Amino acid sequence: MSATQGATRATALLASLKNRRQVDVPPDRRNAAGELLEKTAHFLEARETSNPQDATHQVLKEFSDWWCGGQKNTKKLAIAETGTLEVLYEHIAKMFELDAPLTLGERRTEQFSFFQDIEIRGSKDNKIDYRDIAGPDSAFLHLLGRIMAELYPKQQLQVIVLDASGHSNKLGVEQTAVRLVWQLTSGSSGGQNIVVTSEIAFRIVDYMVLKANESTDQNIKEIHRRASTLSNVNTWKNMFVSDDNYGGKRSTIRMTLNDEVCDPPMLRPEKRPLKPVFIHRFSREENAQDLKMEQVWSCDEGQLGSAEYAKFVERTAIRQATGHYVVTTGAMSDCALGVVQDSEDPRYCWVPTDIQRCSDLVDGSQWISALEQHLKAEPKPSRQLRMTVSEGDAPQFWASAAHTLRARNDALRKMQPPARKVRLLTQHEVLFWFNVGPGVQKRDRVYVTESTCPHQGVCLLAGELKDVEDIVNEETVPMVRCPRHNKTFDLRTGESPGNCERLRVFPCKFHQGRYYVQVPVAETSGTLQAFANEPCVMQDDDVDMTEGLCLARERSEIFTCTPTTDWVAPSYKGETRSVQRFQDTSTAPARQGAQIKFRSVAGSPDYGEKKPSRGPGPGRTEEPMKNLERSYPGDMQEFKSEIERSLAGQDGTTEVDYEKETVTWSSTKGATIVFRHANHKVHITAKEGLCRVYLNACTFLQAASQGSTDSAMERGSTRAATSIRLGGTNGYASSRAPSQVYAPPGARSAAGFSKPMSLAGGNSTVPGRSATAKSADKPKVPYTRVVSIDFVGETSGEMDLKIGDMIEVVEVFGMRVRRPLHFHAKKFLVKERIRSYGTFFIGVQDRCMYSHTFHFSGSEPFTTGCTAVVQVKVFGRSLGEGDVLMDISVGQQLLREIMVHYDHKNLDELEEFQTPSRRNTTVEVMAEAVHKRFVSGLKQHLAEELARGKTLGSISKVEVVVKESDVAFAGFGEELNATSLSE
Ligand code: FES
Repeated sequence: MSATQGATRATALLASLKNRRQVDVPPDRRNAAGELLEKTAHFLEARETSNPQDATHQVLKEFSDWWCGGQKNTKKLAIAETGTLEVLYEHIAKMFELDAPLTLGERRTEQFSFFQDIEIRGSKDNKIDYRDIAGPDSAFLHLLGRIMAELYPKQQLQVIVLDASGHSNKLGVEQTAVRLVWQLTSGSSGGQNIVVTSEIAFRIVDYMVLKANESTDQNIKEIHRRASTLSNVNTWKNMFVSDDNYGGKRSTIRMTLNDEVCDPPMLRPEKRPLKPVFIHRFSREENAQDLKMEQVWSCDEGQLGSAEYAKFVERTAIRQATGHYVVTTGAMSDCALGVVQDSEDPRYCWVPTDIQRCSDLVDGSQWISALEQHLKAEPKPSRQLRMTVSEGDAPQFWASAAHTLRARNDALRKMQPPARKVRLLTQHEVLFWFNVGPGVQKRDRVYVTESTCPHQGVCLLAGELKDVEDIVNEETVPMVRCPRHNKTFDLRTGESPGNCERLRVFPCKFHQGRYYVQVPVAETSGTLQAFANEPCVMQDDDVDMTEGLCLARERSEIFTCTPTTDWVAPSYKGETRSVQRFQDTSTAPARQGAQIKFRSVAGSPDYGEKKPSRGPGPGRTEEPMKNLERSYPGDMQEFKSEIERSLAGQDGTTEVDYEKETVTWSSTKGATIVFRHANHKVHITAKEGLCRVYLNACTFLQAASQGSTDSAMERGSTRAATSIRLGGTNGYASSRAPSQVYAPPGARSAAGFSKPMSLAGGNSTVPGRSATAKSADKPKVPYTRVVSIDFVGETSGEMDLKIGDMIEVVEVFGMRVRRPLHFHAKKFLVKERIRSYGTFFIGVQDRCMYSHTFHFSGSEPFTTGCTAVVQVKVFGRSLGEGDVLMDISVGQQLLREIMVHYDHKNLDELEEFQTPSRRNTTVEVMAEAVHKRFVSGLKQHLAEELARGKTLGSISKVEVVVKESDVAFAGFGEELNATSLSE
């Protein structure tokens, strides 16, 4: 290339950079920048490939960047020669320095370096600082470090933190976006990437989500609280971007120092490249428990040169050559995270705990001595009391007050609990008793029991631990005495001498550095279903802990609840968005909780059979093809790049025929868009729905057609084409909601619907029916916002709907519709069968003890104690996914949390009963208080489930009953609907 040609090329690239990226290089740097652009463009162009199989790197979203002006540009790169990757990294670094970062991504390989993207959606002007997520003092990063250290216990770890936080043009809000690239280190050497497969990456992230959800660390809870205040999509599961990164959806991963590109139609860089901000190292000294996090580098330490930046790109690249050393699950086998099946009896499984050493437990022998010391220190009684120690003819004796049960209970209250309480992964609450009973080895002197007394559910942490001598067997018997009624239980068997109650005991064993507790598989609430498919048997000394992570994944999904709301909410949310894009609905009345009574009037004969996903369906005709004509003044090349840019999200290919002077874009759906250069006409041939999509996407065509002869031709009706052309301006045809639910004039004001109408001229699309609406003759009412609709069937039999069934709406808000409405059942209608007769309910029960003071007029205040048995019933009209109204275990969990809140409390001290004015905490008041807390917890679960796109059951009422005895109780109940549950 001659010097003149080079200068021209550099100038052209600078102009392209300014044009496509709005980067104007200052005059004094133009020469150097032009040279750099030229070199970079040359390097990238030389490695372009049209074969997707060869592509190793790719321009994100196929964005037409400053260097992509070539005629045959594919925006896919094959960088295979040795040594070229380093050159690519240098170009990336230099372009970043020039303030015009490239927009490249790496194609994810089967094995890749483990990286995690954490994205937290902010509000319009506020977001969580990335330092709170990944800074040197971040509790959250510390938690992740601990988890990684559990997974890789024999290595030292470090994490490179990259930040791309800023304003997201895609979302229109601020966003915190952090990437963590985890590495193993040895000594002071640099890190070696952890290479994983998608499956392992999923498991690790799921386990992190589980731990974050369960964390009791206030700092972590605070992050979650702040995040969910900013946006309700910010659940832990959503914040960890895993499905996109490790699943099939996003196989191109943005590279370090490269910029993100908005989705079409905006398709422009976000101007927030992924840049390195920290390196933290995690170390654990031998035998030390705590993991230390130390910052070894920070971006505050000065500007890096391009060589250092290139090094960062290299260290954080995720592609791996086949056959690269993989840190597989084998390396994780030392961690004991999983629940494993019992090798002898498949009905049981072993659940791991975090108890690893003596110091994790309460030393029982020391505790018993301490109790004796306490009793000795008690003041001597003024007189002796008689205490009955046995019944019937058994002897009685006099004892000192120091030995009375009351004195012992007083002493217990001043002491630490005698056992350690542990909540298992299966949600069982158990107590670990330690160093009591027979045996020499401390590790053998461990017993696990249920945490509450089988008599009246008192927590045995407040009980007394004893070593009772068994003279016959010449051994000591570990016992616990319940402080309420003084029944004692053998910690080995759970038996209570002389009583029928039996304390539940759990076998436990020490294995691979921690204690496991045996639990029946049947009591795992379905959390361990992975066993069914992938049995994982606990051998004597070898446990494949990889299954543990798999189970953690199962559990995290199940334990966040199967939720519930009226079935329409998720679908209509989607509709609302699409409607709002086209028209202003602010003036239209938004109705919430509208109720429509309807019946199915035309069931398909093949109900229940699987239908092909495409095609018109029984009784419906094939959608006609349309041929629309538009004008485009540009040339073939311009048309090609415009159409590719506009339809980047669509599945199609472009062909240029220079002989015929045509450019043809063909989609896999049979649609074609042909541009004829000779007359500058564009012909769009597609089904009517697709025509609308293409026209909306190809804004350049609409603009170009202004004033041109618009010869829209439709084989069926010309009116449809008119509607399409008007789409977005009349707000009618283009804003048609998928369900085609439209209201008659009489019902518009109530439900805000418009009439059933096809795009072809306002006639009903119902086959075999004459037009029920003549929209052309009537004013077009904008489609208003539909927030929630309750469908009430007339008979349950008629409510078994399927796609294509015709529905006749007969009643709106309890008023009969004068002329019935018709529409076809859509997928979401079929998914949730509506059961109108009868109501489902689930119930959960728990208990708590509290004391409180009653103030009744005319009598002295008096303080009393109460053991309240609390029942919660959740009612609903229809079932959700998996034929459940809601996951009972979630109900149990919610109620348990509420009980913990009140258990062993003096209610007089709780602010909720003192403000705004003091209330007597009668059972009625308690029922209301429990109801309020339960519904609030329920709402949170529903929101999370909705965010996951789950199909929910329909909850209509929650009822709470508080029993103070078996003959006296009170309750509180309230009707709920989708709106109140989603508030
Ligand atoms: S003995 Fe424990 S509650 Fe009665």
